[in-house]
Order: sequence, then structure tokens, then C-alpha cells
Amino acid sequence: MKYGHFDDEHREYVITRPDTPLPWINYLGSEDYFGLISNTAGGYSFYKDARLRRITRYRYNNAPLDFGGRYIYLRDEKDGGYWSPSWQPAQRELSEYSCRHGMGYTIIASTYGGIRAETRYFVPLGENLEVWQLTVTNQRDTKAELSVFSAVEFCLWDALDDSTNFQRNYSIGEVEVEDQVIYHKSEYRERRNHFAYFACSEKCEGFDTQRESFLGSYRSWDHPLAVERGKCSNSIAHGWQPVGSFHLHLSLLPGEQKKIIFILGYYENRKDQKFDPPDSQIINKQQVKPIIKKYLHQSNVTSAFASLRSYWDDVLGSFQVQTPNEHLNRMANIWNAYQCMVTFNISRSASSFESGVGRGLGFRDSNQDLLGFVHMVPPRARERILDLASTQLPSGGAYHQYQPLTKRGNNDIGSNFNDDPHWLVIAVAAYLRETGDWSILEENLPYDNKLGSEMPLYEHLQRSIQYTLDCLGPHGLPLIGRADWNDCLNLNCFSDVPGESFQTTTGKDGKIAESVFIAALFVESTRAMADLAGNYASQHRKNSWSFQINPPKHYHELADRMTQAIYEHGWDGEWFLRAYDDFGNKVGSNECEEGKIYIEPQGFCALAGVGLENGMAKKALDSVHARLVTPHGITLLQPPYSKYYLHLGEISSYPPGYKENGGIFCHNNPWVMIAETRTGNGDRALDYYLRINPSVREELSDLHRCEPYVYVQMIAGRDAPTHGEAKNSWLTGSAAWNYVAVTQWILGIRPTFDGLCVSPVMPSAWDGFEAVRRYRGVRYTIHVERRGDGNGISLEVDGSAIHGTTIPFPPDGTKNVRVTVKVG
Ligand code: BGC
Ligand code: NOJ
Repeated sequence: MKYGHFDDEHREYVITRPDTPLPWINYLGSEDYFGLISNTAGGYSFYKDARLRRITRYRYNNAPLDFGGRYIYLRDEKDGGYWSPSWQPAQRELSEYSCRHGMGYTIIASTYGGIRAETRYFVPLGENLEVWQLTVTNQRDTKAELSVFSAVEFCLWDALDDSTNFQRNYSIGEVEVEDQVIYHKSEYRERRNHFAYFACSEKCEGFDTQRESFLGSYRSWDHPLAVERGKCSNSIAHGWQPVGSFHLHLSLLPGEQKKIIFILGYYENRKDQKFDPPDSQIINKQQVKPIIKKYLHQSNVTSAFASLRSYWDDVLGSFQVQTPNEHLNRMANIWNAYQCMVTFNISRSASSFESGVGRGLGFRDSNQDLLGFVHMVPPRARERILDLASTQLPSGGAYHQYQPLTKRGNNDIGSNFNDDPHWLVIAVAAYLRETGDWSILEENLPYDNKLGSEMPLYEHLQRSIQYTLDCLGPHGLPLIGRADWNDCLNLNCFSDVPGESFQTTTGKDGKIAESVFIAALFVESTRAMADLAGNYASQHRKNSWSFQINPPKHYHELADRMTQAIYEHGWDGEWFLRAYDDFGNKVGSNECEEGKIYIEPQGFCALAGVGLENGMAKKALDSVHARLVTPHGITLLQPPYSKYYLHLGEISSYPPGYKENGGIFCHNNPWVMIAETRTGNGDRALDYYLRINPSVREELSDLHRCEPYVYVQMIAGRDAPTHGEAKNSWLTGSAAWNYVAVTQWILGIRPTFDGLCVSPVMPSAWDGFEAVRRYRGVRYTIHVERRGDGNGISLEVDGSAIHGTTIPFPPDGTKNVRVTVKVG
């Protein structure tokens, strides 16, 4: 069963009933100001950091779900009846309802009692504010006398403190109201120089800023006293819970329509210009007023919205494809790319499943997110790389996370997730293949953000590789540290204390447990480093540095050596082993009773080229096919752990079939897809791709439950009672990796150091496809046609046959390149 439909032409998903199985959300904002918005206007906003600069409140895990939002109430003055045009919070039955989630905006429209209301929510490019553009139409044949109420609840900035430290917070809330603008200024008098504001374009009858005055005591947002009474009380918050609400009258003739704008924004004053007059405690509003004025004008809002649309035309224009499969087209052209932008922006911090207080930007996560994003806005990818590398530790290791506001490594989580440093190498290689901006390697960046420790990025990468060489285990495989990609395989944790964090507890010295996954990752990153080093040294190097530069040969030797270690100690006979535990016993082996085979090393070894030469990769992929594949995707392991194992950690804490304990991880399924393309099996690659493709799963919305337009982290595995049910939508590395798998490996269009490679591994049933790829300022128009069986490729570039599958860089100034590809 479906709850809506795709509108590809407008790049929207249209939800046609409000009671979706879970709140189906979208994101507003693309630079510094962000918001989450559900299909019933729930959600919240923040500036840069969902924890430290939370602008509005949201109640996670509430019943009903999705409480706190951007609320509008309409009231019929004739009989006092009122409703929420976004259904929540009043939950009156609407005669018509739709929510259009688009690229950076959401439009919620409904009709109730002959009154149509449509609200368009978006963040104008380059601004730290959101616009709610409300259009009310009287479809009755009589005049309508209406009241409009808007409502937001302010958060006192630090979201964690806001939801815990009530003894203080109930006393600090402060607002100012001036010229019909509500300013939320808690803590502005002391160490903050930022405030939030809420404003309305039309003349208001009144306002409220104290929650209890607006709602009435012991009342909730579904029946606020002010709305029931038809009047705000101009309350001024002194402590307790500051809110923003405006009340205005609307008189509409039959057929008449009116537009009203509300804006909610964030502003930072200079520290030395906080107050006006300077010796007062009153916010200096001189700088913010023109911004507020601008966005209370319909024409400015309309043109800001048009700019947002054309921004997305441009961003998505970097890659477009038409294949015989509409689900693939829709995801690759619209939603998967969009999700890559969102994961790049928000990392794992704020969604329906991430509370915004826990996780900043993950080192591993952000580097991987970049892989699906870098072609869209390369300069932002560059900036992110520099931020990440500046948190790297002198050992080459990495803080597992950093806070976006401070850009400092997060001490609470610390480091020693031994896969982390390699993702930086992989991300930088991806950036260079995309842009050819070799200057990035010469950027002098600190370690651990410490002044005086600066070294060129190039040396940071060398240290990433060295980090693993400094922590090899008894079999010559990398020590796992706290965990590798699979955060829940905690082989050094040994925690038996309830509630102790699996992520930070270390019970062992970590000298024994090794990871075959990191071994494969190491091969991938050293091969990338070899290519990068070769290209840099031969063509792009400008500086001579004091530190040693290793030649490509060095990196290839390291990769070869690690490959041998995998062949000798990482192979189980039918598939790759997962790890060795702290006792030196195998994990992910046929010898194990549970957790016999894990997905990660099967996919990543073949992806990194390990086992391609000797048939191991093919065998491992066949084992995946035989043992891990379900109709809903490929499970992470099989069989799941049925009890808690002290020496395995969090993985065995999950009930069988959920999360890392045998759930379907949409993040590592694409590694297997890529692996299948590397062994030439396009049919299997596409088959796996379609099993977890959200658009394909739209038909299963009752089972899947999450949004049908974005990837989830996990779908419950074969052993779960709810097999096929999805969780953790939006903020997952699934976005970037599925994007990479489909665009770069199945469709085969991938940047290299030497030019754009076009080498599709097409499913046998396809006749071909058309694609457009913007690459280093050149538009490549690619026409692919099947001429026979198999994956043989011949390429013609602007009418001339070329050797191989990589198109050499065209002469400077070239704008368009036409590529014809014959497959088979
Ligand atoms: C989750 C992992 C996640 C880790 C780090 C665990 O509870 O299962 O998916 O990576 O926490 O936050
Ligand atoms: C989610 C985490 O964000 C990511 O870092 C990790 O790799 C996966 N879970 C798998 O455990």
C-alpha cells in the first residue's frame, strides 16, 4: 500500500494522507541554517549544530509521534471551530490533504470547511532564516471571517541542556517584542551574541511569547487556549517556556485568496555591537531589520524560491541518466543525489532517529558521505576535507567525531576506531579524481587543531596509511581497535556493566583482535594513494617538502603484502573471514556456531580488487548469494547471534535480525553491488540494487514504514519478526554508497586521475541508456548501446574510436564531449 506518489517532473514526493506509518520528513536549508520538517509540519530548526544551536524545540519519542513544529491554526470566527491545515496538532479530518516534499522545500496543502490553505516552507539560499508562505483561499460561496494563529516553541540553544536542566532554564527565558517581531534572546545578556526572531508580514491582532498563556495550563498544542478563545494575550515570557505566536484576522470574500508570510530566523551580532543603545540590555536590531523586511515581501520570497529551484537544477544537472528502469532513474537523478546532499550537511546528527544531541560529524561518516556529494558542489567537499584533516591526530589516527560549530575533535568519544584514517585517503582521492585540484594536497593543516603542528594534507594522508602499519596484529592484519566500520563489533570492549557505552568502553589492550575488513580497506586506500602519489609526483608537484614522500611502488607493495595476508589468514574456504577476536579465534567463519559469514569483507575485498585474480572474490560473492540474500536485501551476517557474547560486544546485544546483528544494512549492500560489477555480473548487481531501492519499495510502504524516497540505514533481516521493516531513514552512508554503486559501477561513469571512465556493467536485459555527466567543466553526453552479450566496451569520443575505457581530458576550452559506447 502507498501513501502518496512520486512527481518526478517537479522532483517531489507527494504524500496524500497525513497519517503515514511514521512521520515522513524532509530537510530545509543547505548551508548553515537547517530544519527538519515532517509531512504534518513537525520538526525543528537549528543553526550549524543541532545540539549547540537549537532554535526550536522538538519532543523526540513522544506520543503522538512528531511533536513540536511549525504550526498554523485556522479558526472560523463564525462558530469558533479551528483546525490545523497540516493536520497536526489539532488532527481534524481534512477534506483534502497533500504534502509535497521537494528539494529543500515542503508544501503542505489542505482544505477544511471550504477553506484551502497551502504553506510553502523553505530556507532562502545564503540566509539564516526560514520562510513559511501561507496562502489561504476561500472556496465557500459566502464570506469567511477567519483567524490565523502561528506558533513555534523556542529552544534555549543547547538542546541537551534544554531538555534536562530545568532548575536553571525555567528562569532564563527572555524575549523582546518590537514592531511585530518576536525576538528570542535567552542568555543574550551574558555570553551569547545570537538571537532568534519570528515575524509576520501582515498586521497582527496580538501575539504570545509565554507558552502557558498561549496554550493554557495543562493543555497541549492540539487545543491551545488562545486559539479556542480566538485571541492572544500579548504575553511576555519571563523564564519558563518562550514561544512565538501571532494572531491575525482574515476576511475573505468567496473565491478570494490571501498570502501571509511568517519568517523564523537566526542572527548573530558582533560581540561589540550587541546592544542598542550600547549601554542598554536591548538587542541591537540594526543589522537584522533589513533582512526581516526583505523576506516579509511576497516578491522577494517568490524570487528566493525560484533561486532555490534553479540551484537544484544546477546541482542535479551534474549527473542525469535515462535507463530502462524508472526506479533507478528517479533515485539517481533526484532523490539519491538529494539525500547525498543532506547526509553531507547533517552527517548523523538530526533526523527522526538521531536526536541532534548525540552525534556531531563522524570522521568515517563524513568522508564517505563526500563520495556521493563531491561532484555536486566540489568547493564544499574541499572545505570539509580540510576540516576533517585538521582534527586528525599526529599518529595518523582520528577523532571519531567532531562538533560542526567548533570543528574540534570530540573528546567524549575519542579515537581508535582503526578504519577511520583510511576514509580520509579515499575521500581525498575522490575529490582529486573529480576536480584535479591538486593544490589541496599542499594545504597546511594542523593535527588535532593544534597551532604549530601544521603539515601539508599530503603528509596527513601518508600518516593515515602509516597508522595501520603501526598497528598490525599477530597475523599481519590490522588491529581492529575499538571497532571498524561495523561499530558494533567491539572485540576489545568486554563490557558486562549495564548501560556502559559499547562505543567508548575498552576492556582489553587491543593487541590481538584483527579486522579483515580494515585489511581490505587498507588495500583500497593504499592503491588510491599509489595512484595519487604517481600523478602528483609526475605532473602536479610544486613544492619540495622536508618529510619523506613515498613513491607509488611503496604503496603497491604495501597493498600486495596486505592482500597476501588476507589470502593466508583472512580466507575461510568459501568466503572471507571477518576478524580475529581477542582470544585469536575466528569471527565470521564456518567454524563459528553463529555469525558464520559477514557481508563486509566479501563486498569490500572484491571492491578493493582482493581475490579477483584467484577466484576467491567470485566464490565469496557466491556465498553471499547463497547465504545472505533475502527479498528485502542482503543481511549483514548469518546466522545472527542469539545471545550476548562478552567478547563480541554490541553486535550481539541486538535481537536477532535487527541492526548489525543480521539486519540488512543499506550501506554495505552497495559494496556487494560494486563487487559484482568487478566480477562482471551486472544482473546480480542490479538485482541487489533494486531490492533495497526505496522507490521500488514504495509499494511495500505498510511494511517498510519509512519514507519511500530515501535510503534507510537498516531493514529488519530474515530472522527478525518484522522482516522488511525499515528504520533510521535519511542519515546513513547508504546514500553515498548506493549512489556510487549505481552511477560509477553499474552505469560505469566514474572520474579517474586520467579522465572520465565509461565502463558500464549493464544488466543483460538492457539495450542501453543515455546519460549526461558534468565533469571538470565539460558536459559529457553519453549514449550506451548493447551490441551483444558480455561486458566488452568500445568507446567513440566525438566520432573517433579510442583505446580503453577512459576518455583523455579534452583540450582546454572544450565545453561538450559526445561519447558513444558499444557494449558486448
Ligand atoms: C549503532 C551503530 C552506530 C553506533 C555509533 C550503535 O548503537 O548500532 O549503527 O554506528 O551506535 O553511534
Ligand atoms: C552507523 C554509523 O554512523 C557508521 O559509522 C557505522 O559504520 C555504521 N553504523 C555501521 O555500524
